[in-house]
Amino acid sequence: MQIISDPGQMQALAEKLRLNRQCIGVIMTMGALHEGHLSLVKLAQQTAGIVILTIFVNPSQFGPNEDLHKYPRPFEKDASLAKAAGVDYLFAPDADCIYPEHYQTTVECSSISSLFEGALRPGHFKGVATIVTKLFNITKPHIAIFGEKDIQQLAVIRRLVKDLNIDTKIIGAPIVREENGLAISSRNIYLSSQERDAATILYKCICHAEKRMAEHEKDLDSIANEIEQMITLTPGCRPDYVSFVDEETFEPVITTQGNKTYRLLLAMYSGKVRLIDNAKILA
Ligand code: PAJ
Repeated sequence: MQIISDPGQMQALAEKLRLNRQCIGVIMTMGALHEGHLSLVKLAQQTAGIVILTIFVNPSQFGPNEDLHKYPRPFEKDASLAKAAGVDYLFAPDADCIYPEHYQTTVECSSISSLFEGALRPGHFKGVATIVTKLFNITKPHIAIFGEKDIQQLAVIRRLVKDLNIDTKIIGAPIVREENGLAISSRNIYLSSQERDAATILYKCICHAEKRMAEHEKDLDSIANEIEQMITLTPGCRPDYVSFVDEETFEPVITTQGNKTYRLLLAMYSGKVRLIDNAKILA
């Protein structure tokens, strides 16, 4: 595995791979690699001949009161995990190569970015859309794999690829969970063992929604209220939002006419740690 930090070198190499008719698959991450990230690598290996993994803790997607400075950066460990997983190229640039002095261009998907995570984290999706576009230009991938764990991010990226005619196929990968149902996340390290146990309520909420669907409940809003109650009644937990949305536009859906798939979006706090989860629901 070759480690590259210079964007120009990465871009020239990607161009050479393309001229050699190699199929490039990219996985973009902020590091602190875990089973979720590695599942994306595995999927990329099944689809592309060359796998590029990027690690960049992107300052522009963090709000002023978020965890940019304490975000975990175990680079040596990440590099050995990437190598063991069979990554071909690890691209890990410094922030000043990506956002040099006088940098001023941004990419923004307007309407999806203003809902849910976007409403609570102003500027977050602008930061994501900008870095993802830059990484597409640097790594020139034929395919790019993103996790459904961050489902609104995936919807923003699908939208931007369509709107800007970016020639990369986007693949969504299923959420990797711990045995207790907790979705794996780099931020789970912030949870105490009590908070971690309490956080398993998220998966129980998803199972509750599936059970209510099996009972043919059509009132999605009342299921969302039941779920908020379940979270509120869990010690140390409080809901942030619970909503069923249209998979493409992320507009909330209150009732279903039946036989359509929606996304159930969940965000809550366990102690001071904010967690998100989601599930595809046939309602
Ligand atoms: P990061 O949080 O490091 O996640 C990198 C990729 O791994 C994303 O596509 C995310 O959805 C996926 N992922 C994380 N946990 C997962 C899990 N439990 N199961 C499946 N996939 C999982 O998302 C980002 O970084 C950044 O916003 C980025 C796209 C790199 C732009 O900076």
